Amino acid sequence: MLREIQEFYGFISPEMKQHAAEALGVKEGILTCLIRRFPSLKEADYQHTVTVCTGERCGRKQGMKILQEVKRELQIDEEYSSRQPMLSKNGKCLLKTQNCLKQCRTAPNLMIDGKVYHQIKLEDVHNLLLEKSIICCWKKSLLTLGRQ
Ligand code: FES
Repeated sequence: MLREIQEFYGFISPEMKQHAAEALGVKEGILTCLIRRFPSLKEADYQHTVTVCTGERCGRKQGMKILQEVKRELQIDEEYSSRQPMLSKNGKCLLKTQNCLKQCRTAPNLMIDGKVYHQIKLEDVHNLLLEKSIICCWKKSLLTLGRQ
């Protein structure tokens, strides 16, 4: 089962591991040991979760374009872009979609690490991800390196 998850998503998230353990009726620790035992199995070690609402109301207000922009910013591999959830290229962020975040009046909505951001505009996406340190600005990184 772990190999199938790995083949489909390209990684095994803690959430997937938990579901697999429940489905198999074993403790999660057993699956953790198996993942460590087999280096071909990769456990995702992400620090952030971004959930884009793809519900009807958000969809009518550029929800899908916002999803595309988030994917572009996170450099989500096209190979995995149709799968759920998706891991960013830097491995720091898990991208999910949800049919409705139950805050339709302030559509389009986006959730980062459990906090919902309202009335998101396409041009807000980059700064929001940058502000949360999910992506990094190369210019900022180079300036920081230059000072060391
Ligand atoms: S459709 Fe997006 S919050 Fe309901």
